[in-house]
Amino acid sequence: MKGGLFSSLCSALLLLLGQNAAGHEHGQLEGYETSKWVLRRSAGAQYACKCYPGDSCWPNNGQWQKLNNTVNGNLRINIPPGAPCYNTFKGPLGDVRTYNKPECDRVTANFADEQFQIELPAAGLWTYFTNDTCRPTTTPTDTCTLGYYPVLVIKAKTTAHIQAGVKFARDNNLRLIIRNTGHDFLGRSVGWGALVINTHSFQDIKVSNSYSGPSGYKGSTITVGAGVQAFQALKKLNALSPPKVMVTGECATVGVAGGLVQGGGHGPLTSLYGFLADTALEFKVITADGALKTANANTNADLFWALRGGGPASFGVIVEATYKTFDDKPSAGVLLDINLNGAADPALFWEGIRIFHSYTTHFVDNGLYVYYELGTAGQNLHVHPFVGVGKTPAELQAVLQPFLDDLNAAGVPYTSSAANFKTFYDLYQAQFETEVAGNSALTGGWTIAREDVAAEGGNDAVIEAFKTVLGAGSFMIGHIWSAGHGLPQAEWANSAVHPTFRQVVDKLITIVPVSGNAPLADKAAAQDRLTNVVDAALRKASPNGCAYINEADPYEPNWQTAFWGDNYARLLKLRQKYDPNGVFYAVSTPGTEKWVQIETGTRLCLKL
Ligand SMILES: Cc1cc2nc3c(=O)[nH]c(=O)nc-3n(C[C@H](O)[C@H](O)[C@H](O)COP(=O)(O)OP(=O)(O)OC[C@H]3O[C@@H](n4cnc5c(N)ncnc54)[C@H](O)[C@@H]3O)c2cc1C
Ligand SMILES: *[C@@H]1O[C@H](CO)[C@@H](O)[C@H](O)[C@H]1NC(C)=O
Ligand SMILES: *[C@@H]1O[C@H](CO)[C@@H](O)[C@H](O)[C@H]1NC(C)=O
Repeated sequence: MKGGLFSSLCSALLLLLGQNAAGHEHGQLEGYETSKWVLRRSAGAQYACKCYPGDSCWPNNGQWQKLNNTVNGNLRINIPPGAPCYNTFKGPLGDVRTYNKPECDRVTANFADEQFQIELPAAGLWTYFTNDTCRPTTTPTDTCTLGYYPVLVIKAKTTAHIQAGVKFARDNNLRLIIRNTGHDFLGRSVGWGALVINTHSFQDIKVSNSYSGPSGYKGSTITVGAGVQAFQALKKLNALSPPKVMVTGECATVGVAGGLVQGGGHGPLTSLYGFLADTALEFKVITADGALKTANANTNADLFWALRGGGPASFGVIVEATYKTFDDKPSAGVLLDINLNGAADPALFWEGIRIFHSYTTHFVDNGLYVYYELGTAGQNLHVHPFVGVGKTPAELQAVLQPFLDDLNAAGVPYTSSAANFKTFYDLYQAQFETEVAGNSALTGGWTIAREDVAAEGGNDAVIEAFKTVLGAGSFMIGHIWSAGHGLPQAEWANSAVHPTFRQVVDKLITIVPVSGNAPLADKAAAQDRLTNVVDAALRKASPNGCAYINEADPYEPNWQTAFWGDNYARLLKLRQKYDPNGVFYAVSTPGTEKWVQIETGTRLCLKL
């Protein structure tokens, strides 16, 4: 990247450093007082870092109290969820006696429950990036520290609270994190030494049948507060007569107006209507300057575009979003398992996978969505489910028949069951499995482009890559959909997602298990395996694929191109326009080239 977003600030700081030594005044430095930055050296390079507890620029108690008053007493010191199981929580702001047997039992019993973790002010559902320094335990004398859980949280109830938090973080140069449900795979909703603005209290839902707005779209819509989760929105829409649906993730607990839409947001309806971002009509958003803005096709149209897939926590804090909704339809689903675990016939297993994956283009060309897990328990393919929205069971069966015939001809054993539902909503309730929280892993991912899998030998190359992934102790989740199948081509460029997504036929998540408190060398080895073995194999098998910012290696090589392709240059300009000083930060998002988390992923700093 030439001339990154923060180069002007960066050169200002360089001048500042030089000026301090020489003792000169310099007009360009206004607004960047040294007192707001902490200078550090790491591996021979110079950094200017944000302010953290213990630094002289960390706000004093009076300042925090003032902030607390401004946010109506909704500021909290963050205590890790496992703390009630320990005698003492050794926090950055001092020691706190925390042992509480009933609370400890409750946390222990619920640690794997997604909704339990979601309701906590600043927990991460995937614990790797919390550093796992305070898991529930039966040994209260062990040490509980904060790890990478944030230090303080504003549980925002009003837009004014969010504005106060953004302004406080900006003026005091604090690490700021926006936290909605805490689902993030890449650790972007937690962070060492940070102040969090939690948006989960924004729970309003409004529906309309007669939206008529700037985009030219006329029809049914849903308007959701930032904290609304998929299951809440879908339930509300299902209760309408006739029932409606919207694009959400396959996971019912992910928020629909936070990270999901800013990354794109794919789900079971993607082959019909595209990404969640493609269905967006308007956002209310607070930008780094603290202003509450409307973003739609007419007003702040550039910001509107960037919020539709341009990267989470990069352009502002979304407080409300309006999306198109669609008539729900009778739907058919099929569950299928190929389980040869213990049968000791890897060749037969992989022949089954080869056959399955050779039908990806066929599945998406028929408008299907297919969710599958590969290798979670050894030689196992778990398709849960094949979804045919608006299809009768016979129609879905007809699409699947050639695939099943091939499995039969090859002698690959499988089990399957079919069901039909009055609505897609009913299918969604019945056929998608509950997911768990509290596990630690590094996650990555890549997508398979149509041209690569359809090329001569292309599918075989993909299967070789799958073998490499499983052979490295990793497993995968696949999502077979096409974001270009149902959505008219004229609308593709309305979202900032990588243009390549329109010809992707399989979107993979790779998972490398590693505990959050593993020795640093083990963590480094796991990261290396993810980037250079597991995902490298997939990238090689589909050179025309791309990566999805919400389900990817945080350290994806050439991330600008991998996540956004030709859209990156415009996103970079928009980041410079809306957040020139880096008030927001999430790893590998537009304009963060010069920001680094030094000192083993703790201090966020500008490289000088
Ligand atoms: C079990 C599971 C299943 C998933 N299934 C899918 C799927 O089917 N499809 C799919 O596309 N993705 C899926 N994801 C990934 C999902 O898109 C991301 O985890 C997403 O970032 C979650 O957004 P969130 O707001 O709910 O979570 P959070 O972790 O709270 O936030 C995620 C990111 O968004 C930012 N953010 C949150 N709220 C706001 C806001 N109001 N304004 C600005 N920035 C904000 C945060 O700072 C962070 O960077 C899944 C994840 C999990 C863990
Ligand atoms: C903020 O104020 C509330 C209400 O007075 C109080 O309960 C809370 O402890 C305060 N937060 C901090 C961090 O002092
Ligand atoms: C994070 O965990 C690593 C071990 O995985 C440890 O070396 C490091 O000190 C921890 N840092 C914090 C801030 O908890």
